[in-house]
Amino acid sequence: MPRKIIIDTDPGIDDAMAIYFALRSPELDVIGLTTVFGNVTTELATTNALRLLEIAGRSDIPVARGADDPVALPFGGPVPVVHGEDGQGDVFLPPPTTHAIDQSAAQFIIEQIMTQPGEVTLVPIGPLTNIALALRLEPRIAQHVREVVIMGGNALGPGNATPSAEANIHNDPEAADVVFGAPWQVTMVGLDVTNNVIMSAAHLAEYGQIDHPMARHIARITPYYLEFYRKRHGMDGICVHDSSAIAYLIAPSLFTVKAWPLRVDAGEGIGRGKTWPALGEVDRPSLAPWRARPRVNVCVGVQSDKVVELELARMRG
Ligand code: BDR
Ligand code: CA
Repeated sequence: MPRKIIIDTDPGIDDAMAIYFALRSPELDVIGLTTVFGNVTTELATTNALRLLEIAGRSDIPVARGADDPVALPFGGPVPVVHGEDGQGDVFLPPPTTHAIDQSAAQFIIEQIMTQPGEVTLVPIGPLTNIALALRLEPRIAQHVREVVIMGGNALGPGNATPSAEANIHNDPEAADVVFGAPWQVTMVGLDVTNNVIMSAAHLAEYGQIDHPMARHIARITPYYLEFYRKRHGMDGICVHDSSAIAYLIAPSLFTVKAWPLRVDAGEGIGRGKTWPALGEVDRPSLAPWRARPRVNVCVGVQSDKVVELELARMRG
């Protein structure tokens, strides 16, 4: 039986790659996309989710629109320098012919989990706002979800939105601290591994050789992302952040995982959005904020070549 997943997404170039990687993997059954601000506004994220499914010929998959703003503060704004004004490398796709469903992202998540207990895995690859809102509306989803596999955070290394914080967590640290603290199994596929999962320009050129609509779309949008990595990081390749969460679901043995209690800095200082694991014992008084917190599975190592090859194979196959 394929594993049922809901992808919570802000598409986003690497989000599009992750969604298509999942759609082309027989181990996974994508039962819905829920949308959130981040790389783009929630409105554009919703439009892009619908467009991506239309390109894939999978408009049977429902799209539920999520929150427009983080739980505590207003959204700081999209990042066109990374993903384009349209979030899809400035290819400016035609409007979708389909529509989002009437339920909000949080309502959809709750309904799916509560009607299929133990079966649904949440895969947030954007800020964690919708997931925190769903928990607030129906805390029992924590008992009934199968797992939550998140692309976001940085346990041991630096951030990318700021020197402290990774972009998805930085966009809504208050929501992230709620999600990492709920009594459910969370796995964090963060920058500690995704910074090492690099598709080279040569890998990306392969998409242009593959003859189906999903690969053709990826071939159209990734040059913009590659240009960003060349200019900003001097790299001849891109980090495939969001796809790494999909790879974890399909092939967890490619990842090394540590189980640590984790807190998110939700203060307003320079550390805002940093994910802090407690690496040792938590019985010292100074570690009280980590005590009574569940252990999060934090990915700290990855066989990156195999992850890249897995994604390319799925797109070719
Ligand atoms: C995350 O931020 C976004 O720009 C990407 O889509 C990914 O989800 C990486 O930090
Ligand atoms: Ca994303």
